[in-house]
Amino acid sequence: STDKLWGGRFSAQADSWVDEFGASISFDQMMADEDITGSLAHVKMLQKTGILSAEDVQQIVAGLEDIRQDLHQNKLHFTVENEDIHMNIESILTDRIGPVAGKLHTGRSRNDQVATDFHLYVKNRLPKIIDEIKTIQKTLVKLASENVETIMPGYTHLQHAQPISYGHYLMAYYSMLKRDIERFEFNLKHTDISPLGAAALAGTTFPIDRQFTADELGFAAVYNNSLDAVSDRDFALEFLSNASILMLHLSRFCEELSMWVSYEFNYLELSDKYTTGGSIMPQKKNPDMAELIRGKSGRIFGHLFGLLSTMKSLPLAYNKDLQEDKEGVFDTVKTILPALRVFNGMVATVKVKKDNMYKATTHDFSNATELADYLATKGIPFRQAHGIVGELVLKGLQTGKNLQDITMSEFKEISPLIDEDVYHVLKPEVAVERRNSFGGTGFKQVEAQIDQAKRELAE
Ligand code: ARG
Repeated sequence: STDKLWGGRFSAQADSWVDEFGASISFDQMMADEDITGSLAHVKMLQKTGILSAEDVQQIVAGLEDIRQDLHQNKLHFTVENEDIHMNIESILTDRIGPVAGKLHTGRSRNDQVATDFHLYVKNRLPKIIDEIKTIQKTLVKLASENVETIMPGYTHLQHAQPISYGHYLMAYYSMLKRDIERFEFNLKHTDISPLGAAALAGTTFPIDRQFTADELGFAAVYNNSLDAVSDRDFALEFLSNASILMLHLSRFCEELSMWVSYEFNYLELSDKYTTGGSIMPQKKNPDMAELIRGKSGRIFGHLFGLLSTMKSLPLAYNKDLQEDKEGVFDTVKTILPALRVFNGMVATVKVKKDNMYKATTHDFSNATELADYLATKGIPFRQAHGIVGELVLKGLQTGKNLQDITMSEFKEISPLIDEDVYHVLKPEVAVERRNSFGGTGFKQVEAQIDQAKRELAE
């Protein structure tokens, strides 16, 4: 036999560089706390069901609690020879309390153990992420309520389309984040299931009590099928997918932010706290944080695709491939939590250059729809009205005249039905205010969105 915990049927020792390749301790020590929590629940269950004696369990519990204290004080020493966090902790326990430590693994396998740890890890982090998203939502709602009547160009194809309220723009992101939260909440449901007691793949002959350990660990449910329990990583895939969509949303905002702080747009200015200077060009104020959040979305998508590829065609039940499930998830947590915080700070401190935004809507043709709608309400069929305005735009482009610069007599030539009130209708702020259809950019509609959002956030 060799000196591994499972060394009985082995006569040759692996070379250390092979051990190194197979080990996960360098990263799965991230779940050390969850591993101890899972073991404590398991061993208490072993006592409760009479599988282990109270004296044995007492020793194991005391040993594990001891180890947890040292863990929190950074005093534990893990080794590659012990491969992963599960065997490292069991080996440390053995050093401390002797052979009785060997009873801890009764009726359990590392396969349900690692799945339990990983579920706990994700479950514990989800509420934190949801909280950070809610903080951003609050910031967006606050900014939106300060900018209901801030007029800016709305874009399609990156062309001036119709003027909109900047508050309306901000509330669009509120809505995206609301769906993100709902996705993470649903994710929590699929994570909140206990695999513990599935053992290696088939359950165990010991009279274990899976409901007891699930309750002890705070899981809402127990996996119904032991094969599924040890090989399901849907909760991790959902997590990565949700994180990807979240980062995608942030990246779109960051992209617009980066454009809008440029000379060409000059709609917004970022706080000095969230920008950097150029190493050679003294005038620079770079939107680094926005770019970095945009950039970091890429690595999260990568983690999603990495795990999808690992899981694809993987036969049931546990395979060592599954050890590859963790690093992407850990990195995702490590990436998105600070990204959310930075995003919030950056957005909260943005200076809105309302005049520049407004000006951008006054020398374009983004009120062309207003004129077409106006003609349509005067009885000209909308298609025909569209054609008339199209020709006016073409002429205006050649002569440098915007629609509001057309004189009354010129308007009368088009149609005697056009009156002075057309100039009112052509004003960008009027165009925005009048778009009062449900969910539109009209001020009343934006206020309604904000009110609803405030109610949602108060829940
Ligand atoms: N380190 C392993 C992992 O992360 C733990 C489970 C190992 N089980 C096994 N039979 N090799 O997946």
